[in-house]
Amino acid sequence: MQNKSVYLNGAYVPLNEAKISVLDRGFLFGDGIYEVIPVYNGQLFHFQQHMERMELSLAGIRLANPHDRVQWLNIIMPFLDSGQDQSVYVQITRGAAEKRDHAFPKNIAPTVFVMCSEVLPYEGKYTGIRAISVDDSRWGLCNIKAITLLANILLRQTAIDQGCAEAILVKDGYVTEGAASNVFAVIDGIVVTPPKGNDILPGITRDVIVKIAQEHGIPCTEEVISLDALAIASEIWITSSMRELVPVVELDYRPIADGKPGPVFQMLDQLFQNYKQSLV
Ligand code: PDD
Repeated sequence: MQNKSVYLNGAYVPLNEAKISVLDRGFLFGDGIYEVIPVYNGQLFHFQQHMERMELSLAGIRLANPHDRVQWLNIIMPFLDSGQDQSVYVQITRGAAEKRDHAFPKNIAPTVFVMCSEVLPYEGKYTGIRAISVDDSRWGLCNIKAITLLANILLRQTAIDQGCAEAILVKDGYVTEGAASNVFAVIDGIVVTPPKGNDILPGITRDVIVKIAQEHGIPCTEEVISLDALAIASEIWITSSMRELVPVVELDYRPIADGKPGPVFQMLDQLFQNYKQSLV
């Protein structure tokens, strides 16, 4: 299918013809959730895990899932193309009510939107990126993949304004995650990533990396990381479906170790690439 088409409420339509109501609660309140699923060689990566997280996000905002997993697959399949890597974006909002009211409206249909984009390799993956630590100003339900991303946008932009590519968020002295990524560090030779809970999005890439590390005998734990410990880590990297693994080579204007992507990152990234290949 041509990239320019999107799926909206039961139909595939050209992007510039896709329209929603100005009363849509996604538009008025950010009342909805989303998912981003990578596609390698025309195959959805960890589709079931993404669906499981989407179901949890929907339950978290008390919105019924409009489709079962087979129906979702049927909606997404026409977008898949075995050429370039792609990412599938799925968004569900509570729909458009007759008037603006915070309370859930009764008897309205959700708005279901799916689009697909080509993904080019992220150049920061090879050079490494700079990051800054920023106070995590978000709400208390960061495990829900809510479309309400204003805090994440402001935090990411704060990093960009300071010549950095990502903000590493810190709550009460401890690292939560990135503005749009999960965080890993190598501390005393052990790979550490913050534990799941309401403070972080349970990243699918994060879970894959933890599993790969465990399967290959690379010491890896899910433990809290203080900002002080992060500052003296020998390696830091971030993970996300859009950018896979990206090394952080500078934190708060100070180089991490020798300021180059580290050996544990290189090893896990290679294992991740091998794993992707093994699935297609
Ligand atoms: N975001 N934490 C946050 C806050 C995120 O927004 C993301 C990804 C992740 C990583 O999750 P995963 O590995 O499942 O992609 C962690 C997506 C890519 C986005 O908003 O575009």
